Amino acid sequence: MRISRLELAFPEGAAGQTLVLGADGAEDLSPFDRASTLIVEGMAQHFAALKARGFNVATEADGHFDTVLVTLPRSRDAARARIAQGAAHLKPGGALWIDGQKTDGIESILKEIKKLGGISDTQSKAHGKIARVDDPAAIPADWASRPLTPLPGFTTRAGVFSAEGIDAGSAMLAAALPDKLPTRIVDLGAGWGWLSAQILAHPGVTQLHLVEADHTALECARLNITDPRAAFHWADARNFSLREPVNGVIMNPPFHEGRAADPGLGAAFIKAAAGLLTSAGRLWMVANRHLPYETQLGQHFADVAEIGGDNRFKILTATGAGARNRRTR
Ligand SMILES: C[S@@+](CC[C@H](N)C(=O)[O-])C[C@H]1O[C@@H](n2cnc3c(N)ncnc32)[C@H](O)[C@@H]1O
Repeated sequence: MRISRLELAFPEGAAGQTLVLGADGAEDLSPFDRASTLIVEGMAQHFAALKARGFNVATEADGHFDTVLVTLPRSRDAARARIAQGAAHLKPGGALWIDGQKTDGIESILKEIKKLGGISDTQSKAHGKIARVDDPAAIPADWASRPLTPLPGFTTRAGVFSAEGIDAGSAMLAAALPDKLPTRIVDLGAGWGWLSAQILAHPGVTQLHLVEADHTALECARLNITDPRAAFHWADARNFSLREPVNGVIMNPPFHEGRAADPGLGAAFIKAAAGLLTSAGRLWMVANRHLPYETQLGQHFADVAEIGGDNRFKILTATGAGARNRRTR
C-alpha cells in the first residue's frame, strides 16, 4: 500500500493546490485534501470511483499547482511523459514528487532524474519509493507524450496496450472471424482500435460499439477509426450496457489489472458479453491458452466451441446467451 510512503512524504498533508497524476479508485489518499486536489486519471473505473469519493477528477490536467505527485505507470516512455506533464503543470517554486513501485521501474527513473538535477526527501516503503525532484525545469522537454505510428494510418501513445504494433492474439482472432459478420457488434476492450478496424472491413456490419476503459487508448481509436458506423464508449466493460441487445461481441479481453494477472477480469468480460447479446447472437474471443475461460463461457452460453489457436492462444466462440443473463444485467 503506497499510503505508507505518501504519509512519510506529506506528514502534514500535501501543500497548496495539488495535482495527482494517476490514482487507484480504492486507494487511501488521506494526505490529499479533496477541496484543493485535482486527480488526473484515465481508467474509467478508477475515475468513477474517485469521483464517487468526492475528489475533483479529470482526464487532462488544467492549470498550475503548488504540489504535483506523479504516479509512475509501467511503461518507461509513458512514465517519462507523465513526469514531463507534471513538470509542465507546476507553479514556479512548486514541488514535483514521483512515486512508484519497484516493479514499475521507480529506482531506474529516480536514478536518471538524479543525474539530471537531483532528488531529495526519498522514502522507501511498501516495495516502492517516493522522492522530490530538485530541479523540475531540468526534465527534458522531449519526454513529453507524442503520437506513435504502430502501422500506417494508425496512431497510439506510449502506455496504451500494444502501442508499438498489432497484438498477436488480436491478429489471430481477426484471422479466425467468418467473412460475414453480424449487423450490430460490440468490441469490448477495443484499445486503439486495430481489431475494430478489421471488424468494420467485413461485410454485414452496420454498427460497431468500441468500449474501452483507457481514455488515452480510446482517444487514439477515435483518430484511427473515422467510419460513421463506429460508436465510442469510455467505460468499464464489466458494467457496460446498451439499450438494445447486439448480435455480435468480439473481444480480446485483458487478463491483467495493473501488474497482477487477474483471470477474473476476463471472466467479468464474458459475463458482460453475454448480457449484451441476444440469445441468437455470437461471441468471438481470443484468450491465452492457459486461462480456463471455458468454465465461465459454459455458465453464460448454451454452446461453446474452440475454433482455432496455437500453443499460446485459443480462439473461442459461444452462442445462446441465457435470458437469465439479460434480466440480471
Ligand atoms: C488485450 S487488450 C485488447 C486491445 C484491442 N482490442 C486490440 O486488439 O489491440 C485489452 C484492452 O482492454 C482494456 N481494458 C482493461 N480493463 C478494462 C475494463 N475494465 N473495461 C474496458 N476495457 C478495459 C485495456 O485498456 C486494453 O486496451
